[in-house]
Amino acid sequence: MCTLLLACGNVALSAAHAAPAAAQVCASCHGPLGQGAGMYPRIAGQPQTYIREQLLLMRSGTRVNELMQPLVKTLSDKDIDALAAYFSGIHPPFEAAKNTASSGEIALGRQLVTMGDWGRNAPACVRCHGPELSGMPSGIPALAGQSGQYLLARLQAFRHMRSDPLPVTIMSRASRNLSDAEFRAVSAYIETLKPGERAEMIRPAPDKSYKFQAQSPENFTPPPTSAIPSGPDGEMIWRGLLVFDNTQQYARSYVGNALNCSNCHVDQGRQAGSAPMWAAYVEYPKYRSKNKKVNTIEERIQGCFRFSMNGKPPAADSPDMKALVTYFHWLASGLPVGITPKGAGYPKLAKPVKPADIQRGAGVYAANCALCHGGDGNGYSSGGTQVFPPLWGARSFNWGAGMQGISTAAEFIKANMPFGAGETLTNQQAWDVAAFVVSHERPQDPRFTGSVQETREKYHAKNSYYGRVVNGKLLGAPPDKK
Ligand code: HEC
Ligand code: HEC
Ligand code: HEC
Ligand code: HEC
Repeated sequence: MCTLLLACGNVALSAAHAAPAAAQVCASCHGPLGQGAGMYPRIAGQPQTYIREQLLLMRSGTRVNELMQPLVKTLSDKDIDALAAYFSGIHPPFEAAKNTASSGEIALGRQLVTMGDWGRNAPACVRCHGPELSGMPSGIPALAGQSGQYLLARLQAFRHMRSDPLPVTIMSRASRNLSDAEFRAVSAYIETLKPGERAEMIRPAPDKSYKFQAQSPENFTPPPTSAIPSGPDGEMIWRGLLVFDNTQQYARSYVGNALNCSNCHVDQGRQAGSAPMWAAYVEYPKYRSKNKKVNTIEERIQGCFRFSMNGKPPAADSPDMKALVTYFHWLASGLPVGITPKGAGYPKLAKPVKPADIQRGAGVYAANCALCHGGDGNGYSSGGTQVFPPLWGARSFNWGAGMQGISTAAEFIKANMPFGAGETLTNQQAWDVAAFVVSHERPQDPRFTGSVQETREKYHAKNSYYGRVVNGKLLGAPPDKK
């Protein structure tokens, strides 16, 4: 640990970042610039809201910390605000990594950090902590820069936190099924990250021992990414996976908003109950009442580009479309065609006891969703990447998308949200919060006829707020007709 300010490198401390008096006592454990070491966490550069929240929780005794308790008890709200502002604004260099993990362990850690293991309800860490694991402004902590020792201890502690405040519950559920060996691997990998380095997903070496075989449509599991073969087929499958998972980067020209396909078809289109792509692949071609014709899988994909992604769909024979279809075909390996496998679509949800209510939904949203999607529904970005997707407004899905239907949104939310803690809302909460989300303004329906009323009658059932007046505003109206 560097003990002298000078020895800690070039850390510019502006006048606004002069240390408050209360910060002096922190140095003995967290280091002179809050850089941490060993069991003492790095607090420098953590989101301000996170530092503040942790100090408040320690002061009230909700987060038990015997070492800090006596000290924190003497801090006023003002002290806490000043400490949070100070430490969040300084960025001393990371301590050198101390781990002695093997390259195999690091590779396993990288895979879990960047891809997760959804079969055990463990989404990739980057999905919540950001692509550089530098945390999210809404109060999700940075992991990069922490020692492997501290990370491991915290991961183990989260296993036992089951009924704590929401952020803690989310973290606990999202990681508790991983083993200690996996915790060690993840911690060792994170320790290797340099400031600003992205935890990038890499294609695993092909596992030739994976056996493709027929599976029951009642209990289907798509092949793991490590089963992607080498050769031209494998190249195409991998490309499809990238386009699906990071549409913003790999198929930008077809996209008109800030979303990726995997935002609504989670775990790269694998997750049952999240309209998985293996199920879609074996169901199409099929008739859709939405456009009153038999749709090929390509046409169905084009539909999601046009409405959910608010974009211009790629042609059916374009390289990106071929890559997507090749990826879906591979995901469906071992599944019979022409049936609706279990896990297809979003799970049907019983009608709510009380009619869905926007006001009640606003309360559910503030308590369960704003942490990630923001009070303004715009989500959050980090390192130039949209991490938490926008739910409404100009950067979200448009008025023609399936997700703007109240029942579709309720089904998706009940099964998949809050992220990492699906199936925890009551049915009533899911309906109410869905109504709240889809009663906000968003991009125009591309089928707009020039009249909101006519467009509503032609394309929108009772299930949509399009063309209805909410809070005195006609939803879907062009800006000059509000
Ligand atoms: C006697 C040693 C000690 C002192 C002094 C101390 N801390 Fe801590 N602090 C710790 C330890 C140990 C932890 C980690 C405990 C745990 O794992 O829950 C911690 C955790 C924290 C955390 C939570 C970090 C995270 O990533 O979750 C914050 C924030 C924090 N300290 C801020 C401060 C501030 C601000 C001061 C000065 C007012 C301070 N600490 C003084 C030992 C200390
Ligand atoms: C579904 C979202 C989500 C996922 C996925 C997730 N986390 Fe978290 N994590 C959180 C939240 C929220 C918190 C803050 C909890 C709190 O307020 O105490 C957190 C806190 C942590 C902390 C405590 C940090 C500190 O400074 O004390 C560690 C360590 C951590 N996560 C590691 C991981 C790792 C490793 C993974 C991947 C295996 C992971 N998380 C995946 C949401 C997530
Ligand atoms: C811990 C963070 C977190 C919380 C809390 C959370 N979400 Fe999400 N949400 C996400 C992430 C991440 C995605 C994208 C999933 C992916 O890409 O794997 C998402 C996707 C969505 C989507 C589909 C994509 C879009 O932009 O429309 C909707 C709708 C949604 N969330 C609604 C909600 C609602 C409603 C709640 C509260 C009940 C909620 N979420 C709570 C992180 C969160
Ligand atoms: C805003 C959310 C959202 C986004 C983003 C999104 N979709 Fe969809 N997608 C849906 C909804 C909703 C359905 C209908 C699911 C249902 O009701 O069963 C759907 C259905 C599908 C289906 C048919 C599934 C079935 O079981 O019939 C395919 C194929 C599909 N989407 C592909 C894509 C592709 C490819 C992308 C990215 C280019 C994408 N989606 C982006 C929401 C989304």
